Amino acid sequence: MNKEEAKISIRQLVEDINNHNYRYYVLADPIISDYDFDMLLEKLVSLEKEFPEFKQPDSPSQRVGGSVTSEFTSAKHTYPMLSLSNTYSEIELREFDERVRKLVDGKYEYICELKFDGLSISLTYENGLLIRALTRGDGERGDDVTTNIRTIRSIPLRLVGSGFPEVFEVRGEVILPRPGFEKMNLERIEIGENPFANPRNAAAGSLKLQDSAEVARRPLDGYMYYALGDSLSFVTHQQSLQALAKWGFKISDKSAVCSSIEEVLTFISKMAREREKLTFDIDGIVIKVNSLEQQQALGFTAKSPRWAIAYKYKAEQVTTQLLSIDYQVGRTGVVTPVANLKPVQLAGTVVKRASLHNADIMAKLDVRTGDFVFVEKGGEIIPKIIGVDLNKRDLFAEPVIFIETCPECGTSLERQEGEAGNFCPNEDHCPPQIKGKLEHFIHRKAMNIDSLGEGKIEMLFDNHIVTDISDLYKLTYDSILGLEKVIKAPEGAKEKKLSFKDKTARNIIDGILASKSAPFERVLFAIGIRYVGETVARKLALHFKNIDAIIAAEPLELQLAENIGEKVAGSIFSFFRKPENILLIEKLKAAGLNMVADKQPDLISSNLAGKSIVVSGSFGSSKRRKELEEMVVMHGAKLSGGVTSKTDFVVAGENMGPEKRQKAINLNIPVISEAEFLEKLK
Ligand code: IVH
Repeated sequence: MNKEEAKISIRQLVEDINNHNYRYYVLADPIISDYDFDMLLEKLVSLEKEFPEFKQPDSPSQRVGGSVTSEFTSAKHTYPMLSLSNTYSEIELREFDERVRKLVDGKYEYICELKFDGLSISLTYENGLLIRALTRGDGERGDDVTTNIRTIRSIPLRLVGSGFPEVFEVRGEVILPRPGFEKMNLERIEIGENPFANPRNAAAGSLKLQDSAEVARRPLDGYMYYALGDSLSFVTHQQSLQALAKWGFKISDKSAVCSSIEEVLTFISKMAREREKLTFDIDGIVIKVNSLEQQQALGFTAKSPRWAIAYKYKAEQVTTQLLSIDYQVGRTGVVTPVANLKPVQLAGTVVKRASLHNADIMAKLDVRTGDFVFVEKGGEIIPKIIGVDLNKRDLFAEPVIFIETCPECGTSLERQEGEAGNFCPNEDHCPPQIKGKLEHFIHRKAMNIDSLGEGKIEMLFDNHIVTDISDLYKLTYDSILGLEKVIKAPEGAKEKKLSFKDKTARNIIDGILASKSAPFERVLFAIGIRYVGETVARKLALHFKNIDAIIAAEPLELQLAENIGEKVAGSIFSFFRKPENILLIEKLKAAGLNMVADKQPDLISSNLAGKSIVVSGSFGSSKRRKELEEMVVMHGAKLSGGVTSKTDFVVAGENMGPEKRQKAINLNIPVISEAEFLEKLK
């Protein structure tokens, strides 16, 4: 195929595949088989590989992910992302209606929508192309999750139809439908990972994954409910939803225009009955004034619009019998009482266990074995016991006495002042607490060993191969290959065995090796000294420069470092007074971990001395972008995140942010390519 043919072919394939995608994921009305679809995509991917210069910005090949984000950058929302005031009561809903009535002239109507229980997202489209996706963040600034959002099949990469403004924003919710969630959790359990508590957490966790190929495997979906922009000219909110649907977005068909608050209440009751039949979770109904002119007249408070309110459904409740109480020790040593219940149906699942929170709440509830208890399902997988039906209590039921020793290690439990629960003080030897320390150590913000997760840590620990963090650095490929764990299966099903295969073993070892280059401040955080969070670790590293100085410091000296008060200093001091902790540090040193803060690296040249440079956009891989950024610094310049009048030039890759580009143009700052930049270094 020659170049011209390839170009035409690629364009056609992109259009066709995007259209099939839309039909499948938005309209649920496919016109070709999955196999034929896969063939088209395969053809496109191979053409793009051969002719990368013709890769389109809306190419569906992005749906499978591939790029890895080391850290999400944050950006300011063009329009702040506000929240909604909410209520559980009919009375307050009527009060909302009264306020609306007083503030608008004449007749008004509402539009009721589902309140999707997911993660809100703001999408920017320019000339019909999705150019940016931000999470809500703090409402003012959000995280840029564009590459991850591009993997969600129901979110258009290019709009269909016409009539959309040059630039506008669409807001909606990323959700994980229940069937996909359940399948994903089963798979997680199978590979030894902890299941997600609920679809919302799973959706949130998925959007924050660094590997977009993994995001692409998560069955996420996106429903839109709000269009924002300077040149939108709808008369009603309903019209804007219809337009969004026409442009290719997924809009719920379960919204209704209501001409009175009575009709709103009827819709709310109807959906309360129907919500179980939906394939995804909702937590209420959002009621919006339909006329956009009236919306504008009503305006906003500091936090939320006056033209909308969310009615939230109360959690469902049932009663059942309490059979016995177990005690679970958490990763931080906190002991949680858990009730075993006579199985009962609640909000679509069978409930057998429920949390009793802690000793204080348990005592306050005064639960006794055999009691009939009220159980409620909130946001978590484990429902809560919220009360006892005293009318049904057995005359001879005896109060339950909270255990006094740790069920995991036998140590006497303690209570910390001001805390409601009991905890096991044996932090160094109590099994779940050791696992907790190991999990903290490998965490993304600590040593960032992402080839290990909770499940794999558990396997290594249960097989007595890793008993403290330094053991990780003794692992070899041979020592972990074929390691097995029996996975408890649900009743009736066969037990499963999980074992480390070649690739898993290799990834684990590679990940551990790579962690040796983590800077000192991360190591300090990863060790898991009580009260030493990321910031404290950074300040300590900055002030003391190396571990030996920290070990040697008296509490008062420790307090000389910024942000370190008496409590933190005391905790650090006593940590290093324990011989086993000193031994641990010695082992980590021997393993080659960084115990000294970074020196200023020697410069390669001073070709760019005194310059302030911005690197923006993508350069094939996030690794390449990092390399370019390093070059900026290594040749003497200052690397800066945003374009200002002090910027000397911008090195631009693909998809450089349009705002940045515009700003550079306005300020007359040169925007150069990667090749031009490399030329400057010579
Ligand atoms: S409208 C200016 N509509 O609920 C307010 N929000 O508690 C725009 N949500 O942050 C929001 N479904 O994440 C709107 N149909 C819907 C919604 C919805 C879910 C979420 C959204 C928002 C939160 C407010």
